[in-house]
Amino acid sequence: MKLLVIGSAGRLGAALMREYQGKFDVTGFNHPQLDLSNLDKIREKLGGTDFDVVINAAAFTNVDRCETERDLAFLVNAEAPGILAKICGDKGAKLIHFSTDYVFDGEKRAPYTEEDEANPISIYGESKLAGEKNVLAAQNRPASRPEGSRLIQPAGSLSSFNSSSSTLDVPSVEGAACRGQVRRHLVVRVSWVFGPDRPSFIDGMIKRAQENEKIDAIADKFSTPTYTHDIARMLPQFFDGDGEGGILHFANAGKCSWQEYAHWALDCCRESGVPTKAKTVGPLKLNDMKDWVARRPVYSVLSTAKYAQLTGTPPRTWREAVADYIRRFYSKK
Ligand SMILES: NC(=O)c1ccc[n+]([C@@H]2O[C@H](COP(=O)([O-])OP(=O)(O)OC[C@H]3O[C@@H](n4cnc5c(N)ncnc54)[C@H](OP(=O)(O)O)[C@@H]3O)[C@@H](O)[C@H]2O)c1
Repeated sequence: MKLLVIGSAGRLGAALMREYQGKFDVTGFNHPQLDLSNLDKIREKLGGTDFDVVINAAAFTNVDRCETERDLAFLVNAEAPGILAKICGDKGAKLIHFSTDYVFDGEKRAPYTEEDEANPISIYGESKLAGEKNVLAAQNRPASRPEGSRLIQPAGSLSSFNSSSSTLDVPSVEGAACRGQVRRHLVVRVSWVFGPDRPSFIDGMIKRAQENEKIDAIADKFSTPTYTHDIARMLPQFFDGDGEGGILHFANAGKCSWQEYAHWALDCCRESGVPTKAKTVGPLKLNDMKDWVARRPVYSVLSTAKYAQLTGTPPRTWREAVADYIRRFYSKK
């Protein structure tokens, strides 16, 4: 099976590459190799690449910068995934696209299911929700090309790309995943992603705890940390082009505030013999974060009931995942 990982140098993308190398025929495009803000480049680059599954782990993820760079946010997080989905459909490949708990407004006080209505409160969330819709809309397009041919798109505007009259039939690339039908694309929403390939909240807190006697973190915002390693391990169950499509939530099990998350990280450091000056984490309020430009949902726990029902295996708890991460990547530092 041929995989293409887009955003292969990001926190999640790099973990996917590490997990799949040696197990699958995997190619990665990092940001310089494929800039998703260049829609013509996407068509050109993917048109010349052979794959069965594309995993899009690239995104404009700076939540505050999205507020001031709205056009770029929508280009990268919304338009580009739609184009990826169409190209995959035309090639008979499946797209697995990552999205976020920030598509929700945070007003609920029970885990958000895939059926809950998304109502983003930031440009980042809006752009990611638009990306989800573009991906899922593209999969519903009927494929009408003959077996043994693939569709390519001449470079042009998004509107010309949408026009079926702008498609050309060409002989298929040898070995291409061209089966004459559109695969069901999958949108995987994840939350509070952490892992060894790029520092995130947990690494920032450990660093601060190593440098300071006192640290604090927000105590009134709730979601669930998700370990990139766990995402990478579970995802192959969904590589089958005829398998599950639509929206799927995945996170480690349970819920916590940032204060609890950081506190557990320090407990795990102590357990693993990783020295820190600070031993506990004081509470901060979301309202104290005056420097933040974008609004963030207060509560964005994702329900993984659908995932557990589909796979028969619920994700491990966030506490286990964090403990594992610190044991593996901090105790040797
Ligand atoms: N991080 C979280 O807590 C979190 C939470 C919920 C959902 N998610 C979702 O999970 C997915 C993976 O996120 P992550 O944590 O791995 O984020 P990340 O570390 O920021 O990775 C995103 C990658 O996308 C690349 N990228 C940015 N703009 C691009 C562009 N125009 N063209 C091509 N590549 C571009 C980045 O490259 P550069 O760094 O070079 O710009 C980076 O390698 C994303 O869909 C994100 O929305 C993340």
